[in-house]
Amino acid sequence: MHHKEVFILAIESSCDDTAAAVLCNNKVLSNVVARQSIHEEYGGVVPELASRAHQQNIVPVIDMALKKANVTKNQLSAIAFTQGPGLMGSLLVGTSFAKSLAMALDIPLIAVNHMHAHILAHFIDEKGFDKPTFPFLALTISGGHTQIVKVNDFFNMEIIGETTDDAVGEAFDKTAKILGFPYPGGPLIDLFAAKGNPKKYTFTKPKVSNLDFSFSGLKTQILYFVQKNVLENPNFIEEHKKDICASVQNIIIEILMEKLNMAVAQTGITQIAIGGGVSANTGIRKTLKETETKFGWKTFIPKFEYTTDNAAMIAMAAHYKYLEGAFESLAVTASARSNW
Ligand code: KG4
Ligand code: ZN
Repeated sequence: MHHKEVFILAIESSCDDTAAAVLCNNKVLSNVVARQSIHEEYGGVVPELASRAHQQNIVPVIDMALKKANVTKNQLSAIAFTQGPGLMGSLLVGTSFAKSLAMALDIPLIAVNHMHAHILAHFIDEKGFDKPTFPFLALTISGGHTQIVKVNDFFNMEIIGETTDDAVGEAFDKTAKILGFPYPGGPLIDLFAAKGNPKKYTFTKPKVSNLDFSFSGLKTQILYFVQKNVLENPNFIEEHKKDICASVQNIIIEILMEKLNMAVAQTGITQIAIGGGVSANTGIRKTLKETETKFGWKTFIPKFEYTTDNAAMIAMAAHYKYLEGAFESLAVTASARSNW
């Protein structure tokens, strides 16, 4: 059987990272990310600064992706881009660039849903990483999303649970901000948590009866807890940051695992994939992995470079759209909200 080699250049610019990748079928040839450090001093992403940085980064990032892949523009089969969800000004930079490139090269243009891509990243060929089979459950956890998705096929996905307020990444980032850590705080909490006692401080879980999540109450609980203790001891954070981080991470993991257990009971599906920036968290990865022996689940934990925003996952999702001939006209626009 003849297998056509499909070369896809994908651009991801939905938030604060400018990324480009080249894939040949399911294989990553290059995966380049320019992280924007400008937002650190503001404690969060400033949309205007993000789109300006995307404009500065996009040409060198794409050039580097092509160079590292050792692929010329003329070899490309299609151009893919993140259509949404994300920040409008950021999405527009990638969308416009992808459109002009597809037009100039006269090749198909493919629009990708960022959240689909976080899930379809599991279909990238990587040594030592298995691919899930349909149907499976995906827990997508990022700075903007917290969802449990029933994945029936590449583009047939149902959200069966999601956050009613903050995303889990926001719970990490806002806790970090309360503790005076720079943005994004998730990775730092992860680091300190590894050296702390997860049972030192107890926080209460929100009461949400179905598969939905709520994290805004937890953030408030943590804020009051820290304020109260700092009043008694001004050095409270510095002296106890490891235990605080471990305890916060512990309650977040408990919340996520409780809902995953419910989702498994409800659907009978025991293949679980995680994706999104927060799936880089070592505590979450470890706890999920333990369910394989504990509950007999089969888990899919992405390689680190495919957890936080990247363009390889966009190219992977685009590959399956390419096979279906799901192309866009040049009239396609970015959309800040996701249309599943
Ligand atoms: O998927 P992503 O790169 O961007 C969005 O689409 O939002 O996710 C970014 C989020 C941030 O909230 C960041 O703090 C969090 O992922 N994050 C982590 C870790 N690494 C990144 N949270 C907890 N532990 C980590 N190791
Ligand atoms: Zn993301």
